Amino acid sequence: MESTITLLLACLLGVALAENVTYHVWNNPIPEKVVRNPGQVFSVPKGRTFGDVMNVAAEQNPTEYRYTYIQYDFGRLFTGIGGVSQDPGNNRYWVLFKLGEELNAKNPPNNKNLTEYGADGTFVENNDIFLFWLTDGSIRPRHS
Ligand SMILES: *[C@@H]1O[C@H](CO)[C@@H](O)[C@H](O)[C@H]1NC(C)=O
Ligand SMILES: *[C@@H]1O[C@H](CO)[C@@H](O)[C@H](O)[C@H]1NC(C)=O
Repeated sequence: MESTITLLLACLLGVALAENVTYHVWNNPIPEKVVRNPGQVFSVPKGRTFGDVMNVAAEQNPTEYRYTYIQYDFGRLFTGIGGVSQDPGNNRYWVLFKLGEELNAKNPPNNKNLTEYGADGTFVENNDIFLFWLTDGSIRPRHS
């Protein structure tokens, strides 16, 4: 009985401490040409990174959020998301943005909205909004 209550409390606490993070994917450099995926909210325990959010997303919705990557010292460099691969020949790379407002194709994010440390180095907070965007190379993360 006691352990049931403990478990229940731990469960409630877990929900209370979870961070809800919105994760968008744009699979085309031109926002108007992005296919599917309206974006989705995922919950992770407190103190996790956006890389952890990506893992939860890939598990819950593999069609839109499965990924491929190359492992580096700083973390993973993502080479494909939702079945769409980067295309270095055409200067197309997946770049991660952290947004200060809801995503809007008419007002897309720019260099000011890049994450500094990549997915595995970026800790998330409740109500954060992220976008992984297949850009045309005019916007590049600092570490690559
Ligand atoms: C996250 O979302 C769930 C489900 O909507 C909600 O119950 C929970 O309170 C939210 N967590 C926070 C920290 O806002
Ligand atoms: C991008 O960053 C600028 C400057 O911090 C901010 O004003 C703007 O709201 C951000 N854009 C998005 C889409 O979050």
